[in-house]
Amino acid sequence: MRSRLLAFGLPAALAFAAYGGPVRADQRPAPYLDRHLSVAARVDDLLGRMSLDDKIGQMTQPERRYVTPEEITRYRVGSVLSSGGSAPNPNTPESWADMYDGFQRGALAGPLRIPIMYGVDAVHGHNNVLGATIFPHNIGLGATRDPALVRRIGAATAEEMAGTGVDWDFAPCVCVARDDRWGRTYESFGEVPELPSMMTALIDGLQGDGLGGPTSVLATAKHFVGDGGTEGGDDRGDAKVQEKELRAVHLPPFRAAVKRGVGAVMVSYSSWNGLRMHQNRYLITDVLKKELGFTGFVVSDYKGIDDIDGKPGFTRQEVAAAVNAGIDMVMVPTEWRRFIDYLRDEVKGGGVPMSRVDDANRRILTKKFELGLFERPMADRSYLKTIGSAAHRRLARRAVAESQVLLKNEDGALPLDDDDKVFVAGRSAHDIGMQSGGWTITWQGRPGPITPGTTILDGIREVAGPGATVTYSKDGNGIDSSYDAAIAVVGETPYAEYHGDRTGGLGLDDADLKTIGRLRGAGVPLTVVLVSGRPLDIAKELPNWDALVAAWLPGTEGEGVADVLYGHADPRGRLPVTWMRSADQEPINKGDGKKALFAFGHGLAYDD
Ligand code: GLC
Repeated sequence: MRSRLLAFGLPAALAFAAYGGPVRADQRPAPYLDRHLSVAARVDDLLGRMSLDDKIGQMTQPERRYVTPEEITRYRVGSVLSSGGSAPNPNTPESWADMYDGFQRGALAGPLRIPIMYGVDAVHGHNNVLGATIFPHNIGLGATRDPALVRRIGAATAEEMAGTGVDWDFAPCVCVARDDRWGRTYESFGEVPELPSMMTALIDGLQGDGLGGPTSVLATAKHFVGDGGTEGGDDRGDAKVQEKELRAVHLPPFRAAVKRGVGAVMVSYSSWNGLRMHQNRYLITDVLKKELGFTGFVVSDYKGIDDIDGKPGFTRQEVAAAVNAGIDMVMVPTEWRRFIDYLRDEVKGGGVPMSRVDDANRRILTKKFELGLFERPMADRSYLKTIGSAAHRRLARRAVAESQVLLKNEDGALPLDDDDKVFVAGRSAHDIGMQSGGWTITWQGRPGPITPGTTILDGIREVAGPGATVTYSKDGNGIDSSYDAAIAVVGETPYAEYHGDRTGGLGLDDADLKTIGRLRGAGVPLTVVLVSGRPLDIAKELPNWDALVAAWLPGTEGEGVADVLYGHADPRGRLPVTWMRSADQEPINKGDGKKALFAFGHGLAYDD
């Protein structure tokens, strides 16, 4: 919730004066400042007071490192973002709130005092903020088939965001990942439209029952449309599919998101049959806005307009093409002044009709009024205590447990007995960064103790009984036949977006294979726990493993994995994606007739 500028109970007129506006105590405030009027009436009144520059400013979104509060005032900037990992220094919740309030004061110092919206990628918790609760990435949440849980995760994320003031989340990604070579597969809830559609419940958690709630943040369905359907899983590539398939596979989650009242939609970098989405007027305006009835606003992706002509940077023509296609706000992180100039030129030159600018402003301002930003523009620091709270971490632990998929379990390898003598190995066993994946503290994520949390090994040590012995060796050296069980926790190192595209194979790397080999050599029951953003090519090695658990990217609460390994929580997860027999089979999906290693929906229970 943002704190109320009117909190001290002054009548609106005086409070308006408190804004520093030129108003006498007996004057009524301008209608747009009267929260008793309808949002539509407030928007109409405000639009009527805005200059062209005021309106263009509302359509401009710089990145925080490239704009100051004074420039927000001067250029009437309507929104600011943190790109992945872009945090104030020090990276503490309090300094996030100070940063947000600083930018907001810049906005409120403008003649019309239009507050900004501040956007971040809180895609698995408020993940840019040190100490925030990091939830499982979407592919793990898809394995839970539990929309009520996902909604609660959205609400918890919104609470942690509200404490820092941040009021706009570039989430959920409702992409339908069709090729596991794609670096953003883990951002997808699954390979069939039904799963992302089901998990748009996150939107309700983020936005609340209505947008004006104390911790409501604006949700964003992304990336419109077909980002998960590109040829070869090429991030930002070309989805060469017929319209029938685009509508059947990739559009339904956006329909579901619109139905839930999602406030924003972000356009995909990708193309559809050779045309960049950022200039696709048919899909953005005719389909999303008119056919689906989307009344929120459309935001570009980061420098997304630069790619329209395939050349670096953006031109006047690209600005006009994007805005005329139906993009209402442009994420133009560094060259935002040039964007403002180009758009002004295009409007004055007739390249962009004023009606398009007014429609974009109407959509953006409507969300600002609905969010309550005009009444409560500043961070509500009473929610700072929710960041990384015990309650949120318990919720995350439960989500981790529910997301675990037991793929193989022979000779009773699992569950472990509480007093077992257990040998744990693997690069991902004792590493918060590895188990959290990309979009964690930094854009790409990285190995190491990057933020407070509980590793999978910590969890095993905590969950195991008092009579247990737990030995850890990262590379597996030191194991012998005296152990009751060997657990290899291995998988992928963190990545995000195109950095995660893997066209050269999806197998485990040598270090992990060697670690598993050392454990195998001891001749004790061997369980492999895969910490990865997608299925991996492990069919050849699988016969040598007694049990296999897909842990996905669990985030900071590693105990959830241990809860399942010890049977304190039954494995309930079911595959949200088909598991290949070989990377050569990609793309491989439910119903395509290819013979998978594990089918979509596969998942064992302990009484199987
Ligand atoms: C990125 C991503 C998008 C994200 C945006 C802002 O490149 O494609 O998902 O919301 O930039 O960080």
